[in-house]
Amino acid sequence: MKDENFLKANNARSLWHPMTAPSDSLTNAPTIITGASGTRIRDIDGHEVVDGVGGLWNVNLGYSCQPVKEAIAAQLEALPYYSIFRGTSNDKVIELAEELRAFFAPDGLTRAFFTSGGSDSVETALRLARQYHKIRGESGRVKFLSLKKGYHGTHIGGASVNGNANFRSAYEPLLPGCHHIPAPYDYRNPFNETDPARLAQLCLQALEDEIAFQGAGTIAAFIMEPILGAGGVITPHPSFMPGVEAICRKNGILLIADEVITAFGRTGAWTGSRLWGVKPDFTCTAKAITNGYFPFGAVMIAESVAEVFEGDDTGRAAIGHGYTYSGHPVGAAAALACLAETKRLNVVENAAARGAQLWVGINRLKDKYSAIGDVRGGHGLMLAIELVADRDAKSAPPKAQPGQVQAAAYAAGAMVRVSGPNIILSPPLVLTQADAETILSALDAGFAAL
Ligand SMILES: Cc1ncc(COP(=O)(O)O)c(C=O)c1O
Repeated sequence: MKDENFLKANNARSLWHPMTAPSDSLTNAPTIITGASGTRIRDIDGHEVVDGVGGLWNVNLGYSCQPVKEAIAAQLEALPYYSIFRGTSNDKVIELAEELRAFFAPDGLTRAFFTSGGSDSVETALRLARQYHKIRGESGRVKFLSLKKGYHGTHIGGASVNGNANFRSAYEPLLPGCHHIPAPYDYRNPFNETDPARLAQLCLQALEDEIAFQGAGTIAAFIMEPILGAGGVITPHPSFMPGVEAICRKNGILLIADEVITAFGRTGAWTGSRLWGVKPDFTCTAKAITNGYFPFGAVMIAESVAEVFEGDDTGRAAIGHGYTYSGHPVGAAAALACLAETKRLNVVENAAARGAQLWVGINRLKDKYSAIGDVRGGHGLMLAIELVADRDAKSAPPKAQPGQVQAAAYAAGAMVRVSGPNIILSPPLVLTQADAETILSALDAGFAAL
């Protein structure tokens, strides 16, 4: 390995970091992580902290998940790659599809289409949704509806259904025919409604209104995250997603659940759709499917959708979509081991318990620090703290403040993530009680430093 000075000096010289300006990485040197074990990461200076970010919402089983590491190593020896495009397959991907079918059976999802990550999974679901309608002779159903504040990755389709200008403006014009409705975000919304149940109804009315305006027969699908992650951990009222499902069914619109973050236990339920009692037509997964150790994803497909594709004899169901790394055998082997370990450890239980611990602790911090305007979470290990300059006015905090909290929290023992005015927590689901206390005391130090 190059020495420490070389790495620090060249960190942003020859590489552009995602999600920031190249000049920002040059002036604010990113933390260089060089090692990790369990729930902890270690930087180039030897400073070790609890990873309150869980990689990027993906290292659910922590950094020492030996069965996944061994499965990857063994698969590299046995078959490091083979395509599953028409005419060939591989043993591991067949086995994985069967396992996923069993895992997602309670969600009514019985087929898998494999991808290389979350954005690919979103793109796949959007495309297959349009194709579904074409197979059925409704070729006018091409539009997509989604939520403001939603995040669906960075491909052009995903960016078009994204609900945050930061991921859209620089890349416009995006896909035509994508329309957004207000998110059920009770801290800020255009209805000035703070009651979550009433707000859910208002957002559902906005959805019905938009469908009537666009014409139901022009809309292919509605896509949403069961709990909005990157948008600041926005948890809809329990009536919201079932309400969306009912409206979609009534209007012949497919429902895509983007569970790139929420699948495999993060919310304290095995899937976000199951948390809300919803059966989507497609579910996008990635991230924790391999514990972040291999770039991989899967779109799970409902039986009713599968029947339309599989029953077609016109040729319209030929899938003209797929990735070189769809069904990668090393990714499939990683996912098989990861799924087995996820179930063996029953991570949903710990996610719920540690999530409750963090929820209580962060709400205590809210009583202590007026810079905390809103605390969001309450379902497993995805939480957010929204900073404000003034609680009554809910005015935006000074731009540097979330970063100051993050830096002080890091020095005090925990990595947390900044997204706009929010501090976001998405630690591994194997977090211990002591780890959660460390995150809370680090955040306390972070806010005390303001
Ligand atoms: C809900 C959701 N969808 C899609 C994506 C995109 O996934 P990827 O970054 O793996 O392409 C993300 C990434 O954070 C996500 O949170």
